[in-house]
Amino acid sequence: MTYKASSKRYETMQYRNCGNTGLKLPLLSLGLWHNFGGSTMSTESKKVLFEAFDSGITHFDLANNYGPPYGSAESNFGKVMKSDLSKYRDELIISSKAGYDMWDGPYGEWGSKKHVIASCDQSLKRMNLDYVDIFYSHRFDPNTLLEETADALESIYRSGKALYIGVSSYSAKKTKEMYSILKNRGIKILIHQPSYSLINRWIEKDLAPTLIKKGVGCIAFSPLAQGMLSEKYFKGIPKISRANQKITSLNKELITKKNLKILQELNEIAKKRGQSLSQMAIAWVLNNKAITSALIGVRNTQQLRENINALKNLDFSKSELALLNRTAHDEGINLWAPSSSF
Ligand SMILES: NC(=O)c1ccc[n+]([C@@H]2O[C@H](COP(=O)([O-])OP(=O)(O)OC[C@H]3O[C@@H](n4cnc5c(N)ncnc54)[C@H](OP(=O)(O)O)[C@@H]3O)[C@@H](O)[C@H]2O)c1
Repeated sequence: MTYKASSKRYETMQYRNCGNTGLKLPLLSLGLWHNFGGSTMSTESKKVLFEAFDSGITHFDLANNYGPPYGSAESNFGKVMKSDLSKYRDELIISSKAGYDMWDGPYGEWGSKKHVIASCDQSLKRMNLDYVDIFYSHRFDPNTLLEETADALESIYRSGKALYIGVSSYSAKKTKEMYSILKNRGIKILIHQPSYSLINRWIEKDLAPTLIKKGVGCIAFSPLAQGMLSEKYFKGIPKISRANQKITSLNKELITKKNLKILQELNEIAKKRGQSLSQMAIAWVLNNKAITSALIGVRNTQQLRENINALKNLDFSKSELALLNRTAHDEGINLWAPSSSF
């Protein structure tokens, strides 16, 4: 049976303007990096998509190489788009990206015009879409002039293949440069997509203030530090967890004794707020004035529901914030630091 969206889908979700633009994003957005790949989308992942939309999550984030295998998250999403979601296309913000390794040879990654445009075309085909709402340069390419990557983004924007342009994991310096280049061409960067969480704080020094100043939105990815900001690793590595997957982005070695001690301390603070650690981690990210939306991943509807319930308590007292700042710092888990090191 074809999916029919809940008539209550806009009753509880809150939305924020993306920087100083008119585009609103839900406080929680859903990413399809993990759990949506493979030869077909699992029944549970489909349920996650539908339940997310039923809860007012209007934004789904993808990239060329989400899977595994590369491209399969987009292909699977494209099938669901065609069978169930096409009638809601104008209610959805769908994003994709190019920049990381996608196909063999010199044009299969990075920021050349050749790669970025070909990748965008491939993504649209896989997702059964005429356009994406947001198209990102996925990482800064030190061996391609920013002007060339900007050429590609401009072409994608002017041809209507994307309504808005974003950058991901660019430093404040490179964001400002790209912002100026595109502004001179009459295009405003809508949004930046950096990693950000209680234990990954790199944006606070330069990037967040820069984005506020420029009126650029900010969607924080991995607000749960890929699941570390939950109770799941307190008693070892569970069989079903990202850290235990064969092909994974969460190296078990990141879950050190020192990190676990911090996570347990954070958990005690969360309990006093009447939240789970994951819920507090989401609420905390949204407390930063630069942040438009927290971009989460989930394995199942249970995690989705728990995370949505984080939005019921977004307020922090001054003393809670001070305590959190004393407890959690940058804990060396930012895998995307190379891109923002320029
Ligand atoms: N621009 C970029 O370079 C970039 C890079 C990375 C991600 N992203 C985007 O950001 C999205 C989110 O990234 P992410 O998946 O790393 O985000 P995350 O929300 O930090 O981590 C998601 C993982 O945490 C666990 N989890 C979620 N809710 C939980 C809960 N309530 N309790 C316990 N565990 C929970 C699940 O892992 P288990 O499997 O262990 O259950 C889930 O797969 C991606 O899908 C992608 O769209 C972008």
